[in-house]
Amino acid sequence: MNNFEFCNPVKVVFGKGTIARLSALIPQDKSLLLLYGGGSIKKNGVYAQVTRALEKHRFVEFPGIEANPHYETCMKAVEVAKKEKIDFLLAVGGGSVIDAGKFISAAVCFDGDPWDILARGASIERSIPLGVVLTLAATGSETNERAVISRVSLKKKLNFASPLVFPRFAVMDPEVTCSLPEAQVANGVVDSFIHVVEQYLTYPVQAKVQDAFAESLMRIIREEGLRVLKDPFNYDIRANLMWAATNALNGWIGQGVPQDWSSHRIGYSLTVRFGLAHAETLAVILPGVMRYMQKEKQEKILRLGAVVFDITKGNVQERIEETLLAVETFFREMGMKTRLHEYGINEKDLDALTEPIDQLGWKLSEKGHIGTKAAKEILSLRL
Ligand code: NZQ
Ligand code: ZN
Repeated sequence: MNNFEFCNPVKVVFGKGTIARLSALIPQDKSLLLLYGGGSIKKNGVYAQVTRALEKHRFVEFPGIEANPHYETCMKAVEVAKKEKIDFLLAVGGGSVIDAGKFISAAVCFDGDPWDILARGASIERSIPLGVVLTLAATGSETNERAVISRVSLKKKLNFASPLVFPRFAVMDPEVTCSLPEAQVANGVVDSFIHVVEQYLTYPVQAKVQDAFAESLMRIIREEGLRVLKDPFNYDIRANLMWAATNALNGWIGQGVPQDWSSHRIGYSLTVRFGLAHAETLAVILPGVMRYMQKEKQEKILRLGAVVFDITKGNVQERIEETLLAVETFFREMGMKTRLHEYGINEKDLDALTEPIDQLGWKLSEKGHIGTKAAKEILSLRL
C-alpha cells in the first residue's frame, strides 16, 4: 500500500426528512445564496422543504445552473454573491449544482482571473462556506473537494480540487431521488460504478481494505442499480444507491492505491462537443480503456470478473473477454448506449475529441501513458 494523508471533513446528515435540519446547520446570521438548477426542485417538493427550513434565514436565490455547469453562469453567480455580500452558499441539486457551488465559493474570493483556477490549477487561498442538499446519487461531489466546470465558448471542460471547497455539510435524503427520470437514475448508477473502477482497476498494491471496500461497492451498485429500474419507489434501494455513490468518491477507497481516471478525462470532450451526459461518455469509453489496458490491468480485471460478476471459469484470456462483456452488458441493462456510432459519432470526429489531451499535455491512466494517440485508439475501439 502506498503512503497517504487523508482528511474528509464533510458532515453527512442522511435520511428521510433531513432537509428540515438546514435550519440548524446554517448559522442564522449568515447571508445566504441559494443555488439550484433548471427547476426540478420546484416540481418535487425539495424547494418547498428547503425554503421552509430557511424561514428564519436571509437568502437570495440563483437558479438556472445547467447540467455540466457553465463557467459563464458561475461567473454571474459570483457577481450576485459579491453584490449581495454573501457569506454562505447552499447548493441544492446534483453534481452540477454542487460543483458550481464549489467553483463559486472559490471564485468569489479569488484575486485575479478565476478561469486560472481551472485552466492553470491556480492555488486557492480562501473560499466562502458551502453546504449542499443532494438530489441525485451519482458524482460523490457532496463529500469531496473536486469540481468540474465547462467553458462553453472555448469548448473546454476542466476540473479543479482544493480542500477549501469541501462542503461544510451534505444533507442526503434518498426520498428526493424518486422524482428522477429513469435515464438520470441509470446515469448515476453507471457513474458511481465507474468511480470505483477508476480507483480499483489498476494494478495490485496489497491494499486489502481499499480493494474489499471497492468490490463491495461495485457489487452493491450493480445489484441495486438493476433493482431500482424495476422498483423505483423502494426507499432501501434508493438509500443504498445514494450512500454507495457517496462512498465511491469521498476519498476512502482511493487512498494508498494507484488511480486511473482516463475514461473520465477522455469523456470530457464527448460532453462539450457532442452533448453526451457525463455517465453516457463513461459507458462508451470504459470498455475501450479496459481492452486497451488489458495487460497492465490483467490481475485486477480477473478479480473484478470473479468478485462482481462471478466469472471464474476458463483460461485468463477467456475470463478477461467475459469480464469485458459483463461490464458492457451491465451498462446496456441499465439502458445506456455503449458505442460512439449510436450517438452519430464516427472516425472523422476522433481528432477533435482528443484535441484537449494534446493541448493540455495530459498523460492519463495509472501508468501515465495514455496520450492523444492512445486515446484515439481507445475511441476507435468504441466506434
Ligand atoms: O437542473 P435540474 O432541473 O435540477 O435537473 C437536474 C438535471 O437536469 C436533474 N435532477 C437532479 N435531481 C433531480 C433531478 N430531476 C428530478 N428529480 C431530482 N431529484 O438531473 C439532471 C442532471 O443533474 P446533474 O447535476 O447534471 O447530474 P450529476 O449529478 O450526474 O452531475 C453531473 C456533473 O458532475 C460532474 C460531471 O462532469 C457533470 O458535470 N462530476 C463531478 C464529480 C465531482 N465533483 O467529484 C465527479 C464526476 O465524475 C463528474 O465528473
Ligand atoms: Zn464521474
